Amino acid sequence: MTGGLGFIGSAFVRHVLRERADVSVTVLDLVTYAGNPANVAEVEHDPRYRFVKGDIADAARVDEAVGDGADAIVNFAAETHVDRSILDPEAFIRTDVMGTHVLLEAVRRHGIARFLQVSTDEVYGDVEHGASTEADAIRPRSPYAASKAGGDLQVLAYHATFGTPVLITRGSNTYGPYQYPEKLIPLFVTNLLDGEQVPVYGDGRQVRDWLHVDDHARGIAHVLEHGTPGEVYNLGGGNSRTNLEITRELLRLTGRSYETSVRHVVDRPGHDRRYALDAEKARALGWSPRVGFAQGLADTVQWYRERESWWRPIKSGDFREYYRRQYALR
Ligand code: DAU
Repeated sequence: MTGGLGFIGSAFVRHVLRERADVSVTVLDLVTYAGNPANVAEVEHDPRYRFVKGDIADAARVDEAVGDGADAIVNFAAETHVDRSILDPEAFIRTDVMGTHVLLEAVRRHGIARFLQVSTDEVYGDVEHGASTEADAIRPRSPYAASKAGGDLQVLAYHATFGTPVLITRGSNTYGPYQYPEKLIPLFVTNLLDGEQVPVYGDGRQVRDWLHVDDHARGIAHVLEHGTPGEVYNLGGGNSRTNLEITRELLRLTGRSYETSVRHVVDRPGHDRRYALDAEKARALGWSPRVGFAQGLADTVQWYRERESWWRPIKSGDFREYYRRQYALR
């Protein structure tokens, strides 16, 4: 698998090694700013775990990771943050489009039996009403979403053209432990724990559908095992909330007030107003989320409270420069 030191990738590594005694995992990861060896600390001495440092866009490194063979490749490696894709889109094209292409070629070269592309509900773009199904057209609107859509289209084209045994999952907004604090929930939780303000984009009435990272990792494992090649599966949490609703809940959980802690800032350019996923297809395959949202969110806040040793070094490093660039002029 690729991107195993990231947020969802590391949850998948932990899940698979815990649940499946018969499975070994090789992680190929470039260890960019969002890849953190601490995310897999609990499994790194497991003899079934192997690590290769490298870029998924580097075919020689991909071959080294495949080694004597692999039953499947699951691609978690990606540039994932919409705001960074607005500041600097190039890395997104390289990893999310080129990297996916290099992996697809490796799947063909090595005759690998399954390739799963971890994608996102953002490829469907803004949905004013109803919920996106897998049959809907994709209409990505940010450089990030467009790069993920480019990867998805390559994956589906390889299936149609070469019969490559591919699967795609499209997850909704994911939250939980080990999420890099540039994303809404961990950024707001860590700011609030520090008594700092939180920057709400625009009116804060944008809607996202939230999925716990453990449910997301379990969904990917389920689709990998039971999905039909060539198919796409939406993994939606079924927890639609406005950003203001999330913010108010985080204020309550950290004991802060709206008046002193919330700052409405200039909106994200091209900000998608609403995402909503129809996850019936994945449910029919036998997957459904298990973590209740209220409990999941409370546990996540508690995790950040107890794991300052994880997030404080991140927020004091290069992150400061990013935060200044991203928010100073808003
Ligand atoms: O929908 C799935 C996607 O969810 C994933 O594909 C992306 O990798 C992931 O980053 C996430 O994208 P979003 O743009 O929805 O996530 P983010 O946490 O950046 O923002 C969530 C919402 O909160 C969005 O409407 C923007 C808003 N927001 C975010 C930040 C960081 C704020 O209002 N203030 C902020 O400072």
